[in-house]
Amino acid sequence: MEEFELPDDPRAAAYLAAHTTPPDPLLARLDRETHVRMLSPRMLSGAYQGRFLEMVSRMLRPKRILEVGAFTGYGTLCLAAGLAEGGEVFTIEHDPLTEELLRKYIAESAYAHRIHVLWGEAGAHLTRLAGEGAAFDLIFLDADKARYADYYPLLKALLPSGGWLLADNVLWNGKVWDENYRDKDTQALRRFNDLVQADPDVENLPLRMRDGLMLIRKKN
Ligand SMILES: C[S@@+](CC[C@H](N)C(=O)[O-])C[C@H]1O[C@@H](n2cnc3c(N)ncnc32)[C@H](O)[C@@H]1O
Repeated sequence: MEEFELPDDPRAAAYLAAHTTPPDPLLARLDRETHVRMLSPRMLSGAYQGRFLEMVSRMLRPKRILEVGAFTGYGTLCLAAGLAEGGEVFTIEHDPLTEELLRKYIAESAYAHRIHVLWGEAGAHLTRLAGEGAAFDLIFLDADKARYADYYPLLKALLPSGGWLLADNVLWNGKVWDENYRDKDTQALRRFNDLVQADPDVENLPLRMRDGLMLIRKKN
């Protein structure tokens, strides 16, 4: 099957940025402070993907959102913008170095009382939540690439029929389709993508956005 595809062009990113609604001042400040104070600021979703997350959330109007991997909270705040009346976001994070900025920007946002940070290991939280029969309309998976495939059955258990899972970094800088790369994270992401593709319970679409964002809808 031949699909239409734009050529790679170094000017594309600037053009896309110039035609995307800019982030609100709080998000812009969070982005800047993360770049000044954190060691790996590129982990933050940023203006382009953040706007996409916000738009998806606004389209779905979810009651309950789960984010796996909060970092300094950029994605968290974007997702929170689309919450239904009385809705809540739960976000999992294990790195204490993120805590100051994460708490600060959540507190300054309009969603301070609707966002709950679950500190600790993602695997332990997901196992507990699934055991409790918790359910989320929208899940954003953005931590611990090596364990995406391990998390997948737990994430599916947390999604009702019609629920959505968005998984970040699934194209891993193009390494997933280049057989020369055999490192642990690339292999793990290939395993995750193959697992999703073979799963009859879901429909899925990898978007060529940033580092690759897989949209997954649970059918049954
Ligand atoms: C890519 S960043 C998240 C970015 C954020 N979602 C955003 O949109 O701006 C990934 C985060 O996941 C956290 N993380 C990685 N492995 C984890 C684990 N096993 N349990 C909990 N958090 C984890 C890291 O500390 C890091 O802050």
